[in-house]
Amino acid sequence: MRLDRFLAESTELTRGLAKRALIRGEVSVNGELEKKAARHVQETDRITWLGERLSLVGTRYIMLNKPEGVECTARRGLYPRVVDLLDVPKLERLQPVGRLDVETTGLLLITDDGQWSHRITSPRRRCSKAYLAHLARPLEGDAALRATQAFAEGIELEGEDEPTRPAELTCLDDHHVRLVIDEGRYHQVRRMFAAIGNHVETLHRESVGALVLDDTLEPGEWRELTPEEVALF
Ligand code: URA
Repeated sequence: MRLDRFLAESTELTRGLAKRALIRGEVSVNGELEKKAARHVQETDRITWLGERLSLVGTRYIMLNKPEGVECTARRGLYPRVVDLLDVPKLERLQPVGRLDVETTGLLLITDDGQWSHRITSPRRRCSKAYLAHLARPLEGDAALRATQAFAEGIELEGEDEPTRPAELTCLDDHHVRLVIDEGRYHQVRRMFAAIGNHVETLHRESVGALVLDDTLEPGEWRELTPEEVALF
């Protein structure tokens, strides 16, 4: 590929800025200063910009332990964006796979592979998501049994015609539950508990499909997925 394109594909530079960096003599190929934007280069060439070796940005697959107070949007708004937690080039290409609310924590996948993302979020694929919720009101005894049954059968959410799909509720103690759903409706978990007269205080996503949040990641930390993890979807 052309050298200016290589620079634009491996740094934050646009093609135009890459050309200017070349003219300023900031780029070398295999140890030789190079000023020609049209010079043909390959990945095996040693290309440096301001002394730093460059490599092409490939397709990225990232798991983030999302902290509270960051937003799953592409545009800058009231809150910091999840992609702002990543120190990688070409941030604008990365998109969260589905969304978590600003207050929700836990497993968030981020990628620039639209097809992979679609395989996870497409309603037809029914990819499961497991959440841990802390409930404001205790859920015990008969109420816990009724909730488990209601969620397993599907419940009506305010403003929607279709009941939720069968979901698996496990009561861990009076105030803590695990809920596994295979849909992704707006604020779904919070609204499901609201529908049975409870309130979700905190919500944390543990897993998406067979992919479980890496417990070595502190809130705000991330890592690239392994090829085996990418192949799960
Ligand atoms: N359900 C919710 O209510 N919020 C989330 O962030 C995810 C699922």
